[in-house]
Amino acid sequence: MNNLPTITILGAGYVGLTTGSILAQAGYQTYLIEPNQKRLATIKSGRSFFFEDGLDTLIEKGLKTKMLLPTDSYAHSIPQSDIIFSCVGTPDNPDGSPNLEYVFEAAKTALQYLKPKAIYVQKSTVPVGTGNRLIDIFAKSGLKVDYLSNPEFLREGTAIADTLYPDRIIIGGDSSAAISTLTDLYRRVELNRQAIAELSGIANQAKVCRYISTELSSAELIKVTANAFLAMKISFANSIAILSDQVDADVVEIMDGIGLDPRIGTAFLRAGRGYGGGCFPKDVSGLVSSAQDHGVELKLMRSTQEINAKMPGYIIDKLKTRLTTLKNKQIIILGLSFKAGTSDTRMSPGIALANICAKNQASITVFDPIVNREDLDQLDTSTRIVDSISELPANPDAIIIATEWPEFCNFTPTQIINLLGKEGILVDAINAYNPKSLAQYDIRYIGVGRRS
Ligand code: UDX
Repeated sequence: MNNLPTITILGAGYVGLTTGSILAQAGYQTYLIEPNQKRLATIKSGRSFFFEDGLDTLIEKGLKTKMLLPTDSYAHSIPQSDIIFSCVGTPDNPDGSPNLEYVFEAAKTALQYLKPKAIYVQKSTVPVGTGNRLIDIFAKSGLKVDYLSNPEFLREGTAIADTLYPDRIIIGGDSSAAISTLTDLYRRVELNRQAIAELSGIANQAKVCRYISTELSSAELIKVTANAFLAMKISFANSIAILSDQVDADVVEIMDGIGLDPRIGTAFLRAGRGYGGGCFPKDVSGLVSSAQDHGVELKLMRSTQEINAKMPGYIIDKLKTRLTTLKNKQIIILGLSFKAGTSDTRMSPGIALANICAKNQASITVFDPIVNREDLDQLDTSTRIVDSISELPANPDAIIIATEWPEFCNFTPTQIINLLGKEGILVDAINAYNPKSLAQYDIRYIGVGRRS
């Protein structure tokens, strides 16, 4: 035992499991509460229940050293803990607002066991004002609890690197003592990050992290505003892609051209099938709905959503124009996770593309290198799922690349020709290939906002 604060993490999703595994390696006794018994059993066996590069090694080591303690028991963990991180899920309500049931349930359950002067850190993405509602609940209990908002910016696929080498740590709240305790915790992670990176096989970085303390409401808004801004960049690139298609311009050239202006930057301007995942769609609709609660109409964000929603259909319409009809056409979709490096299929554009084709009565075959079959229940039931590229049907009418997995972005022209067979069209829904290079090989190509 050391003198460092003891931690409990509520919820072992992408944020909770990554944060917990890293804190355990930084020397903190870390309880990890996961109520889902199947997930808990997987974590207790030394593995993550989702794919995230390098994470299993940290879990395994944390279990071995007994610094990471997965449990389903609040009674066992909270009374001993000085800092509680709430990392529970906030799924979408049907109206686009986030469902805060787990956030409040976790806080109320933790409250039954909290020791006085515990620090309650909110990492779940919650609408602005949620912190004040929770502070009221804590205050009514008569227990002195310091509440902080500490938004999380990690990306799936690079979760460990993002947690070890963040650009900034934002901490919102009123208690300077609690802010200082949390800052110390992250500084300790910084001190240990090279060793943790090596253990998990992540490259060391020489990044300087900025610590910023803010108003509680600002911290709550920073997370969703950051994601909304990035989502807006993608929809902006997609709207210019649609224009490019009309005027024979190339959206990749345009985005490269504007991105060289450092005020704009090149990141998140890749046009294609649009954004998906567990964050962008939810955070944009969460921001729109919380602004509405305060009488503010965020039209820019609504347009962002509209453009994003139309991209899969827009791409399939381009294919339809070439093939006249999709009925009985043989179409292959490569990539079903919402992006490369993850097994997550939430709001996956690949699945949207497959389902639109299925609706048009095409015959669909899909392949993804990591996604599990059991996570594909949103796919139209007529879809055939295969486990390797070699099982794909020969001579398809089209192959749609939907996810930036390296194995789909680095095909040689010969491999593409072999996969496409006699008449097939390559639909590059992520603009991974250069149409001019493919044209030399007579590869039939459809990109997004690129001449084909
Ligand atoms: C995002 C934020 O980046 C991260 O900071 C936050 O903590 C969680 O939400 P994540 O959802 O893991 O992370 O994925 P991200 O890499 O941001 O990509 C989101 C989506 O946008 C993916 O579907 C991706 O394919 C798409 N995208 C990204 C584009 O379509 N074009 C781009 O230029 C960049």
